[in-house]
Amino acid sequence: MRLLVSGGAGYIGSVVTGHLLEAGHRVTVLDDLSTGHRDAVPSGAEFVQAGIDQAGDVLSADFDGVLHFAAKSLVGESVTNPALYWQNNVEGSRALLEAMRAADVRRLVFSSTAATYGEPDEVPITEDAPTRPTSPYGSSKLAVDLMIGDYAAAYGLQAASLRYFNVAGAWNGLTERHTTETHLIPIALQVAAGRRDRLTLYGEDYPTPDGTCVRDYIHVADLAEAHVLAIAAARDGHVVYNLGNGSGFSVRQVIDCVAEVTGHEVPVVSGPRRPGDPATLVAAGDRIRSELGWAPRRPELRTMVADAWAGSR
Ligand code: UFG
Repeated sequence: MRLLVSGGAGYIGSVVTGHLLEAGHRVTVLDDLSTGHRDAVPSGAEFVQAGIDQAGDVLSADFDGVLHFAAKSLVGESVTNPALYWQNNVEGSRALLEAMRAADVRRLVFSSTAATYGEPDEVPITEDAPTRPTSPYGSSKLAVDLMIGDYAAAYGLQAASLRYFNVAGAWNGLTERHTTETHLIPIALQVAAGRRDRLTLYGEDYPTPDGTCVRDYIHVADLAEAHVLAIAAARDGHVVYNLGNGSGFSVRQVIDCVAEVTGHEVPVVSGPRRPGDPATLVAAGDRIRSELGWAPRRPELRTMVADAWAGSR
């Protein structure tokens, strides 16, 4: 297929682009490089430097589908600057959907998030769980999920929203390298590498076995394989799939794993809870397993940490 990947110069978008190329697809990456890196775009892909609002200039009836990653994704920033998130994530996605309509491109895979659920009533979280986002980032992603559902019903989209849990690891040298790093594993690796003095533990009084938050980590290459399946399987309507491993690790367990894999200590200091952090987020992933035949091939936390460590060297 000929595919457009918005945000293909970012961490997840670039790894997915690499997998799409390996699967034999032709890929055009659209990215404004506001947070992405030109050198992350796999060499087999065509690259267009432009914002998501320019998608109409690139899309034509020659395209078979779109994988949409371009978005702002910092939870804390979204709280202080929600306008940026509604503009970029929601308006940007609407512009993309309009460009798809105009060019009659129907297949869509959207990069959604567990942040659409907010604090869950029950864990593991199914796709039918209530959606009560606790940040404008989560709200903006949920708004796009709803918009895609409406567009699919009225205009014949064949769409899937993949709700990622905590993406980790690296693939083919493509790794997380955010200017503002907020994610646990890359920060812990920076401490292990001596590039930061210590890691602040955001809360140790959560109702979890060791008091720190529990998250469901998924290897970025497993995540990418799910996208390759989802774009191929696209069918009329809109379907939501959770994308996680279904098992949880606490912040303490992640830090211990980083120390073990790297052979370096990771000094920590206790800090207050980070606003908007749910205690436990673990995916129920039955739907994507049964409908798309997806299964994670790298479910071990150790593999994700080791790959991220190798990718950051
Ligand atoms: N954490 C720390 N110290 C740090 C960084 C993180 O203790 O320096 C903790 C966090 O409080 C959290 C856990 O490590 O309990 C994981 O934090 P991350 O920032 O790595 O990931 P999140 O679970 O906050 O974020 C993920 C996705 C987001 C999504 C969010 C939904 O990366 O895109 O889940 O809650 F919005």
